[in-house]
Amino acid sequence: MAEQFLLKRAVLTGIGAYLPEQILTNEDMAKRVDTSDDWIVERTGIRQRHFAAPHETAAYMGAEAGRRAMEQAGLKPEALGAIIVATSTPDQAFPATAVRIQAALGAKKAFGFDLSAACSGFIYGLSVADAMLRAGQVRSVLIIGSEVYSRILNFEDRTTCVLFGDGAGAVLLETREVEKAGPGLLSTHLYADGTLGDILYVDGATGQKDKPCHLVMHGREVFRHAVNLLAGAVNDALAENSLTPADIDLLVPHQANRRIIDGVGKKLGLPAERVVVTVDKHANTSAASVPLALASAVAEGRAKPGQLLLLEALGGGLTWGSALLRL
Ligand code: UT7
Repeated sequence: MAEQFLLKRAVLTGIGAYLPEQILTNEDMAKRVDTSDDWIVERTGIRQRHFAAPHETAAYMGAEAGRRAMEQAGLKPEALGAIIVATSTPDQAFPATAVRIQAALGAKKAFGFDLSAACSGFIYGLSVADAMLRAGQVRSVLIIGSEVYSRILNFEDRTTCVLFGDGAGAVLLETREVEKAGPGLLSTHLYADGTLGDILYVDGATGQKDKPCHLVMHGREVFRHAVNLLAGAVNDALAENSLTPADIDLLVPHQANRRIIDGVGKKLGLPAERVVVTVDKHANTSAASVPLALASAVAEGRAKPGQLLLLEALGGGLTWGSALLRL
């Protein structure tokens, strides 16, 4: 019987995005700090970023992105099993942003929690959701990356404040019985190296009194590690699935710097048309960057059902990871 050969997989059934209305171009940034459009474009590929208005918090934007993903999938909020929010910029230390979003969506039966893995948070979230779905704990998980880095940027530091933006992206994963060549998450690979914790961090938290709370990055150091670590994560995903780069329809990388994105694409030998780039429009939105890039590729018709997508990210921790997904 054909049923014998069906596999239980976490399948992407909906995707949503939310970007704040306010857009700041590089020229706008040059009015605030000593920088230029030329420098930012040449070193990073960034042309503009969205900055949140006061009401656009991680919970607000995450709920909007989540609602759009649920609507696309046609899943009623009360049927949702769980919500995972990857964020470094939660509205509050607690309740978790995920629980605020649970209330906003009316997802009465869902449990929820936040996950802290900086820019890799969405990939970490996919991995946790995949395990929960395959274990049968729940049948649907909303994974949201939502960030308001504009609130933790140090506008006295031109080497970091021009690099980041705000936004949220969400995917709904649901358990489905599929054939081997069918859709779903095929693998996730997660990594961390805490000995590199001081090259990218936020210098405060709610547990510390009277401390400023700003992002600090030794960009050159992070850059030095990024391409090799990301290529390693991507190669591990390919090896585990007995695939080669030629099998990948689209690389959906973390959007930190165009030069890092191109570096990974080049190592894999992928032509530009098979690499998704949104860093020009969104800048680095940390945990929101991969789902925002994926949502944009889907909206533009570049990412289609049946295609094989390789997602990757690296961020503070250092943490990094990859996920192989068939749409
Ligand atoms: O999402 C988490 C992961 N994060 C990343 O992957 C970021 C990784 N790092 C990077 O993307 C890059 O290292 C940066 C974009 C942060 C910096 O690019 P870079 O090519 O490594 O520049 P640099 O730090 O070596 O700086 C080059 C020059 C310096 O001037 P001098 O010392 O050569 O005279 C900087 O002072 O550029 C200067 N500079 C700026 N100039 C104009 C630094 N920031 C700016 C700026 N505008 N905003």
